[in-house]
Amino acid sequence: MRRPSFSIGNWKMNMSVHEAEAFMQKLPKLASSLDGHAALAVPYTLLSLVAKLAKPIKIMVGAQNVCQFEKGAYTGEISTSMIKEAGATFSLIGHSERRVIYHEDPDMIREKVRQCLRSGIKPVLCIGETLEQKTEGKTKKVLIGQLLDALENLTPEEAEKIYVAYEPVWAIGTGHAATPEMAQEVHMEIRSFFTKHFGSKVSEKTLILYGGSVNTETIESLIKMPDIDGTLIGGASLEAESFAEIINIARKIKL
Ligand code: PGA
Repeated sequence: MRRPSFSIGNWKMNMSVHEAEAFMQKLPKLASSLDGHAALAVPYTLLSLVAKLAKPIKIMVGAQNVCQFEKGAYTGEISTSMIKEAGATFSLIGHSERRVIYHEDPDMIREKVRQCLRSGIKPVLCIGETLEQKTEGKTKKVLIGQLLDALENLTPEEAEKIYVAYEPVWAIGTGHAATPEMAQEVHMEIRSFFTKHFGSKVSEKTLILYGGSVNTETIESLIKMPDIDGTLIGGASLEAESFAEIINIARKIKL
């Protein structure tokens, strides 16, 4: 079932054990309703701890990236079975920081999506255009290309397990979120892509999240948009107070 107000916090390379414990203690006291409506993508080293603390408050815990291979000589990598063992149920895939800083290419991202699907980890596929691409009017072309590359040849049964996060690169960490209208237009395109390739039953169920400078100020107008089913939150997910407020606002607007 599509949950139209899902909030995923992306801690990126932040938070110590102590900070994570304090956050997880505060969160349920501040958030009005967590059950099935929130998730945290945490650093690998915090997965087991956060997954354990998340269980009683029923939020999903996942990784921010995962290896495309199952096991073997891949020094420094972490596999889907390892994150699963640590309590993860999902992983972000293809975040722009992975694509830009670590040169993850479309083949790698496609393989990561497939590896997640094979091992029962939900892929949260991140896509987004750069400022240059936006200025050149290439947003739609870039996003459709990223979706085609990542989801090529998936069956509708596989596709319906995926969440998509639209994160314009120019909006990440800049304080300048996309306007709700701009984001809605893109989300509609993404949903049409799913309808065209996997059928309307799948596209109606697919969660399409918006990410990029989501905070307690920007959440309300974004989540009001019909095709924005939730958000992926970086900076504002590092404090339990602001993350909880975002969850609360989203839940108030869309049950
Ligand atoms: P931001 O990051 O909320 O700090 O802009 C979002 C993200 O990168 O997922």
